[in-house]
Amino acid sequence: MTALVVAMDGPSGSGKSSASRGVARAMGLRYLDTGAMYRAITWWMLQRGVDLTDPAAIAAQVDEPSLVSGTDPDDPTVHVDGVDVAGPIRSQEVTGAVSLVAAVPEVRARLVAMQREIIGKGDIVVEGRDIGTVVAPDATLKVYLTASAEARALRRTAELNVEAGGPGGTTVEAQQAAMARRDTLDSTRKTDPLSMADGAVEVDTTALNLEEVIAEVLRLIGERS
Ligand code: C5P
Repeated sequence: MTALVVAMDGPSGSGKSSASRGVARAMGLRYLDTGAMYRAITWWMLQRGVDLTDPAAIAAQVDEPSLVSGTDPDDPTVHVDGVDVAGPIRSQEVTGAVSLVAAVPEVRARLVAMQREIIGKGDIVVEGRDIGTVVAPDATLKVYLTASAEARALRRTAELNVEAGGPGGTTVEAQQAAMARRDTLDSTRKTDPLSMADGAVEVDTTALNLEEVIAEVLRLIGERS
């Protein structure tokens, strides 16, 4: 069998992370969270006080930090200048700013090259926005996960409440608005916008639980191997 590469794309809240990690675990594959790489660069830029409304300022600094992405689905680490930032990159501040950084072509060039190098060794599930279209168009299987805007906002609100240890300071309506803003930025940017790849299989997760999504992706992999 040739090296297996599974591309998992889709908008925020479509269930990509949980499904991708579940599939990787079930098959003993590596796992790469490319969104965490964009978040890590954004975290570093915020620490540095880079003006994120200025693409030239972002481009000028993008090669400065060292970046190392782990590929263990049970412990997806990302280190910036030697510091594991897996926790801080999930902050509201990073989430609100990441699409501005991810729209800068120089940022994408650096991260896409790193992603291709990691994927080159094969046997990996990769989640993101442009994996099937740009990063790994020859992937064994390309999945495009979707879900209704309401279902995505409900899931994200529940996740944030779990992280906060109880009902946090967010509502489903606020999450739906924040996600719509991020989706619009991600799908209308000039470089590598979010879109469904040629040959991708769309999986609508609105009415599916996590086990059902994982089972469907495993079935699709089985069809191709
Ligand atoms: O998946 P996650 O929500 O962590 O991604 C954070 C952001 O990183 C996305 O909203 C998008 O702006 C950017 N991203 C991207 N290309 C990828 C993965 C993520 O532009 N392959």
